[in-house]
Amino acid sequence: MACPDVVLTGDRPTGPLHLGHYVGSLVSRIELQEKYKQFIMIADVQALTDNFKDPQKVRDNVLQVALDYLAIGIDPNKSTIFIQSMIPEIAELTIFYLNLVSVNRLRRNPTVKTEIKQKGYGENVTAGFLVYPVSQAADITIIKGTLVPVGEDQLPMIEQTNEIVRTFNRTYGADILCPAKAIISKASRLPGTDGKSKMGKSLGNAIYLSDSGDEVSKKVMSMYTDPDHIRVEDPGKVEGNTVFTYLYIFDPNKEEVAQLKERYQRGGLGDVKLKKRLITILNDFLEPIRIKRAQLAKDPAHVMDILFKGTEKTRAVAQKTMQDVRKVMKIDYR
Ligand code: TRP
Repeated sequence: MACPDVVLTGDRPTGPLHLGHYVGSLVSRIELQEKYKQFIMIADVQALTDNFKDPQKVRDNVLQVALDYLAIGIDPNKSTIFIQSMIPEIAELTIFYLNLVSVNRLRRNPTVKTEIKQKGYGENVTAGFLVYPVSQAADITIIKGTLVPVGEDQLPMIEQTNEIVRTFNRTYGADILCPAKAIISKASRLPGTDGKSKMGKSLGNAIYLSDSGDEVSKKVMSMYTDPDHIRVEDPGKVEGNTVFTYLYIFDPNKEEVAQLKERYQRGGLGDVKLKKRLITILNDFLEPIRIKRAQLAKDPAHVMDILFKGTEKTRAVAQKTMQDVRKVMKIDYR
């Protein structure tokens, strides 16, 4: 099977996107759309696996995530953005894939394991949640995605996808599914404002792409630095100091950052001064995104129309894949 490079990636619409999303995967999508055919999925079906009691939240965030995409420069003429639930073929393919995966294997997926613990599901985890990696394999393979830009935590999903691809092709003597490769961004993972390893919606430590200047300012002022750096004259630590981690990533002036680092370590540079610099840098970065987002938000029907057009295009590809799948599975009755 010739598998030309196609990018497929997506996000669960459970809240607006934050700087962690930006550094971890959004920024690479802006580059990838210049080089490849790219599909970006708003994964509402997957979002419902742990938010099935709160469908309004998922519904509202479909538009919010689309606004974030467009505001940061994902160009609908270059990338195809679509809504997962509007491609029923994904659900169909998931059902067939479920025959190829053991329950034991599902229980061993490390990301799902962590989530089950975090969410306190224990033994009462729903079938829907436990099998979402299989549905994710269908997301990727139904459009023959080969490149998947995602955060590190998604590596087990790609591994499981490729197991399913191999099992499917072997079981049905077919060669119709394409293996996928994760693309993990070069930039280091962005910690939350509390200095914890990961920025996350549910952790309350996120700076959103849609945050106002004041919100950014407040969040940076309360950012984790070096707890032992009490007086300005004291030498400070830059390792694990969140303000420095952000400056390394977002400050365009690397030379000045190197000087600040040296001064901070020597003593004589206060946290407030450093934080004020970071506030300016983040707001300079976010301001054009905010302006574009506000403009787009005035016409939600237009944004939804972009999603519907992308969905239509994606569905045609999905239907073609399903024809091949049904044929090798001998359920192509007419
Ligand atoms: N699981 C991904 C996340 O939580 C979202 C997602 C759903 C996805 N389907 C996908 C990512 C397919 C890449 C490919 O971020």
